[in-house]
Amino acid sequence: MIQRRPFRYPGTDEDVVRLEALLRDGLRAAEFQAAGSLAVLNLACGRADETGALAKALEPMQIGFYLGIDLRPDAIAEAAARWALPDGEIGFRCGDAAATDRMRQLPAFDFIFIRHQNYWHEPAVWDRLLGNALGRLKPSGLLVCTSYFDREHELLVAALRTRGAGLVANLRHAQSRPLPDAPGKSVDRHLAIFRQGQEIALHPGPAR
Ligand SMILES: C[S@@+](CC[C@H](N)C(=O)[O-])C[C@H]1O[C@@H](n2cnc3c(N)ncnc32)[C@H](O)[C@@H]1O
Repeated sequence: MIQRRPFRYPGTDEDVVRLEALLRDGLRAAEFQAAGSLAVLNLACGRADETGALAKALEPMQIGFYLGIDLRPDAIAEAAARWALPDGEIGFRCGDAAATDRMRQLPAFDFIFIRHQNYWHEPAVWDRLLGNALGRLKPSGLLVCTSYFDREHELLVAALRTRGAGLVANLRHAQSRPLPDAPGKSVDRHLAIFRQGQEIALHPGPAR
């Protein structure tokens, strides 16, 4: 994954380095392995600043197909201008990430990422978004989500468990950067990893 231009906001470089370490811990706890190049979907991706950190955390596995979807055209245009994947296919699409059940041309995914999910704001939309995301996973695939605050994270975990997802890792990020204008919120404060189907064992993983 190639980053063609710097991030828009100061502090993002440091945030994504911390996210990369958190993702590595989560992937280790989930014992994630996939054969061949990966198909990765980033839902509600915004500017998709996390794209490079995600690719690094997945190494030595390589991404062959990467798609980001968000409602905001400005953010999608910025993401498309920033990221390139020389040995694969990459795209950023303006659209409703809750409607992936109707995007018939999509492949099944090894890895679906939702950074800073928004369940709190629109539970009905996010119930649909999460259920459809689970339906887009390969049998061995992972759905990986981060949250800004505790209550929203609990709601997300409950929503996915209700839909039959198995929680395979749930990490509190001890080094996450507090948001000065939003008490109780911090960057990538929680990371949860789900598979389709039953929970087998939950690895707590190290606190970061
Ligand atoms: C908190 S931001 C996170 C953006 C990015 N993942 C990040 O961490 O920087 C939430 C994003 O969800 C997007 N969003 C909310 N509902 C959506 C939907 N139904 N379909 C696509 N994007 C959605 C918003 O446009 C916004 O960019």
